[in-house]
Amino acid sequence: MKKAKPPSESAVNDHTYRIFPNDLNSHGTAFGGLIMSILDRVAAVVAERHAQNTSVTASVDAIHFLAPAGRGENLIFMAAVNRTWNTSMEIGVKVIAEDNLNDRKRRHIVSAYLTFVALDENRKPTSVPPLKPESKDEKRRFEEAEMRRQHRFKGAQEKKLRRQKND
Ligand SMILES: CC(C)(COP(=O)(O)OP(=O)(O)OC[C@H]1O[C@@H](n2cnc3c(N)ncnc32)[C@H](O)[C@@H]1OP(=O)(O)O)[C@@H](O)C(=O)NCCC(=O)NCCS
Repeated sequence: MKKAKPPSESAVNDHTYRIFPNDLNSHGTAFGGLIMSILDRVAAVVAERHAQNTSVTASVDAIHFLAPAGRGENLIFMAAVNRTWNTSMEIGVKVIAEDNLNDRKRRHIVSAYLTFVALDENRKPTSVPPLKPESKDEKRRFEEAEMRRQHRFKGAQEKKLRRQKND
């Protein structure tokens, strides 16, 4: 069994991206696809730091766009491992919009939950170190990650049964 690691060992705390005019959609707010691309990269960094192996995005359980970000703001990405299973890990990402000019006022704009799978040198899933959540928030995220996984399994099972019934 690999040694358990706390989320803080692999977390990304403040990856900062400056929004420029070419990052905006036709509504003048930051393009969602750009934010998704950056958060997937940041989550990959966290997953690989934890697993110490190449890790790939297997699924995205949710991306919640809570509020738009605009021209002149910075996007701050924070990401950490929420839970590990055998070869997979849930990475939670929070994105903050920061107004650089007005007292660095901050707004929470996106929450996302991605599952990564660690691969060995033959590109086969390989076990990851267990996670040791320490703070109250880390323990809450640990519990909620299992709920999301069970929800995903239940959805997949229900879809399979419905398709079998309709065949
Ligand atoms: C993700 C991938 C490696 C899983 O391979 P697989 O042979 O189906 O793996 P297994 O069925 O043995 O499952 C391995 C783990 O992956 C997890 N997994 C597989 N499919 C998943 C999915 N859609 N969502 C979340 N987890 C998934 C399983 O739950 C299992 O986790 P556990 O070991 O912690 O219980 C494979 O589907 C793949 O390579 N997908 C493409 C990944 C990719 O290209 N991503 C984009 C670029 S990074």
